[in-house]
Amino acid sequence: MPTVAIAPSILSADFGRLAEEIQAVEEAGADLIHIDVMDGHFVPNITIGPLVVKAVKKVAKTPLDVHLMIANPSQYIDVFADAGADWITVHVESGPHPHRLAGQIRGRGCRPGVVLNPATPLSTLDYLLDEVDLVMLMSVNPGFGGQKFIESSLRKIAALRQTARERGLQLDIEVDGGVAATSIAAIAAAGANIFVAGSAVYGSSDYRATIASLRQRAEAAIWQEGI
Ligand code: DX5
Ligand code: ZN
Repeated sequence: MPTVAIAPSILSADFGRLAEEIQAVEEAGADLIHIDVMDGHFVPNITIGPLVVKAVKKVAKTPLDVHLMIANPSQYIDVFADAGADWITVHVESGPHPHRLAGQIRGRGCRPGVVLNPATPLSTLDYLLDEVDLVMLMSVNPGFGGQKFIESSLRKIAALRQTARERGLQLDIEVDGGVAATSIAAIAAAGANIFVAGSAVYGSSDYRATIASLRQRAEAAIWQEGI
């Protein structure tokens, strides 16, 4: 059974108190810190760069899951690896060479993952699955926190888990966007095991209770489905 991990996205944190906000979710049970890097080109928003990742690395105890939503990612793999990224995920839509990117990330000692936008078919993964440790499926259109979960993602998650099973891969399937107490059980039952949660965690008044409840719902669903 794959391990459930909850990855709060700091996109919804209070940036004026970022160090405290990171320590707070870690003390509340977070497994990873999800960092949304956006460049205003690949997505219509500008957020965090390598300097902030470096600052986060100084306070975080858990691995940094760095989600690159940028044009030309190959130019920045070294920069984010140097800044302290532990996992680096790149969009298959961000350039013609996702296969090379995965090798570049692994070559820097980071865990490579690829990300698919909601409209991108799973067939783009056919020749990539053996090169990556994880696949992240976007369940919102990337760019902003607090959006509604796109229901058709469930079918996609289930199909990817089925493919991984058929190919004998212990693939981590991460889901990003609209993960909340109301959606997480269905997402886990479909086959995901890593859950990014931005507004659901940082928008709540009790991080510990929220993370515990997300984890409990995910584990119960995965257990029932025997994923
Ligand atoms: C969206 C980002 C997400 C975002 C999720 O482009 O990749 O990681 O922070 O936010 P919620 O959990 O609020 O949908
Ligand atoms: Zn993200």
